[in-house]
Amino acid sequence: MAVTILAIESSCDDTSVAVIKDGYVLSNLIANQDIHMSYGGVVPELASRAHQANIVPVTDQAIVKAGISTEDINAVAFTRGPGLLGSLLVGTSFAKGFALALDIPLIEVNHLHAHVLAHFILEKGKDKKLPSFPFLCLLVSGGHTRIIVMKNHLEMEVIGNTIDDAAGEAFDKCGKVMGFTYPAGPLIDKLADEGDMNAFVFAKPVVKGLDFSFSGLKTSFLYFLRDRLKDDPDFIEKNKADLCASLQHIIISILISKLIKASTMTGIREIGIAGGVSANSGLRKAMNEEAVKRHWNLFIPEIRYTTDNAAMIGISGYYKYLRGEFCGHEVTPLARY
Ligand code: KG4
Ligand code: ZN
Repeated sequence: MAVTILAIESSCDDTSVAVIKDGYVLSNLIANQDIHMSYGGVVPELASRAHQANIVPVTDQAIVKAGISTEDINAVAFTRGPGLLGSLLVGTSFAKGFALALDIPLIEVNHLHAHVLAHFILEKGKDKKLPSFPFLCLLVSGGHTRIIVMKNHLEMEVIGNTIDDAAGEAFDKCGKVMGFTYPAGPLIDKLADEGDMNAFVFAKPVVKGLDFSFSGLKTSFLYFLRDRLKDDPDFIEKNKADLCASLQHIIISILISKLIKASTMTGIREIGIAGGVSANSGLRKAMNEEAVKRHWNLFIPEIRYTTDNAAMIGISGYYKYLRGEFCGHEVTPLARY
């Protein structure tokens, strides 16, 4: 029997709804919230209100686009956390209502697991090689930076973690210092392409084992700019591309050096990246180069499945459905999962 999952993602500032049938994406719609751009970060209260306004029309369109009717849906999967509590509440409550109305099971999904499971999303007409287990994945998003060993579809072990900021925060906060709107990652990526990555040198943090740290980089970037601006108020404007290229270069080298260490320590060569920062073209290129050099079997998700999307919640829901891992309606969202 076919398994069709309706998936809801509302952990941060994007309302996304997807329909997944037997692991294949039938639809994956995202309503972005531009409202946060001028604030330099996501405003939680505005985010939950926007989710409330978006969730019904986005679900409606996702079902229409998938070409199914509500009777075809076998279960509703939703992001339980981690994320902004108010935002999660909207998605969780909506998912519960939908499941109750159709009398179908409810599946709670960990947003971070889902980013990693994005590697298993299938698309009709596209052949895709899937990772085999154990699979080593660098998860780099706006709120998290982790090295994860995936033992099977649902069992994951965190072997490295940031002790302060996430890689995405390093992009966003340094971007804010340069006057960029939130999120700054995509713009830094674009400008870096035209800059010299060796123009400015920033120190790599010393952190033991497989852990990361990005807050020192943020501070040194801030102080560096403050000093240069004293001599030349137009310093940022004149050196934008070089600043972005140098910043991106140090972030990538911090990430990749820990991933190499993790591969050496675990002996795993099935390697992937996931999360919003894995959309970064410099990181994707550097990963491809390392994979050739180190004989890694490399997996990089399509850009649309790197940043927040409901298809990744749907694929996680699909594997949980196959294992009969459902949850009750008493389940509550978790800001920290
Ligand atoms: O995974 P995601 O969409 O949301 C979270 O779960 O946090 O990640 C968002 C993060 C933001 O920090 C954003 O700046 C970063 O991903 N990002 C990028 C790029 N696209 C998104 N960072 C660098 N280069 C990009 N192209
Ligand atoms: Zn995310």
